[in-house]
Amino acid sequence: MEYDSLLSVIKRRRSIRSYRPDPVPTEDIMKVLEAARWAPSGNNSQPWEFVVVRSREKMRQVVGIFAEQSERLRKYSDNFKHAPNKSYLLNAAALVFVCGDPRFKSAYPRSSSDQEMAKMYRENAENIYIETVSAAVCNIILAATSLGLGTVWLTGSAESITGRQLKVALKVPEALDILCCIPLGYPSSDKPSPRTPRPLEDVVHFDEFDDKKWRSDEDVKRFVGEPHVWSEFYRAGRIPSVVSQ
Ligand SMILES: Cc1cc2nc3c(=O)[nH]c(=O)nc-3n(C[C@H](O)[C@H](O)[C@H](O)COP(=O)(O)O)c2cc1C
Repeated sequence: MEYDSLLSVIKRRRSIRSYRPDPVPTEDIMKVLEAARWAPSGNNSQPWEFVVVRSREKMRQVVGIFAEQSERLRKYSDNFKHAPNKSYLLNAAALVFVCGDPRFKSAYPRSSSDQEMAKMYRENAENIYIETVSAAVCNIILAATSLGLGTVWLTGSAESITGRQLKVALKVPEALDILCCIPLGYPSSDKPSPRTPRPLEDVVHFDEFDDKKWRSDEDVKRFVGEPHVWSEFYRAGRIPSVVSQ
């Protein structure tokens, strides 16, 4: 039964980009963050900090920073010309900025005796750090869903320009990373957008990787290059050419 309840929360979660302007009790915000602090972490480093923005004035400031970020994407990116402004965030009850303390990367394997190994461990430490903070984010979004709250994982807060602006606005120490932003609020619609994940048998490989299941370069190119293929993908759970095979 525990698994069934957990899976139903996992399946119910959707990225919510429209909120009712209703307040969320502080107790519920704290419940969500309580779940975050129990996440697993590399070498038990717990390198996270959570900055919860609730003041309307601060929210407007942050949304302004995100608007500039979207403008940059529309201007400079090859594939995010449609980047929307995030004004819907103004209706969220709170914005949780998930920060990481990169000093804790030293808690992961390192080497001073061998240059090659030192480089390998350094790269690996980057991954452990991001994986660790992501584990806390997953706990946040699932705990929020279980309380009837909507969230969306907003990345790009670590972009150097955006990150600098956010750190100033939120008085986050320069040495920390602001990795992402998770709004918390009541979804404005009860109807979740449909989403079909890739079929279980396509993504699971027992004992060794099954090459037949590996998506071709052509499929990936279509996925990243043609937005309508994305929507087909989300509807069918598969890229059309794969479906027809
Ligand atoms: C690491 C990560 C970064 C994401 N960044 C953004 C983002 O910047 N903006 C956004 O609107 N959604 C973002 N999302 C949400 C995804 O678009 C969303 O999870 C995906 O389309 C699947 O939809 P669902 O979450 O409703 O199941 C991100 C999700 C993840 C896991």
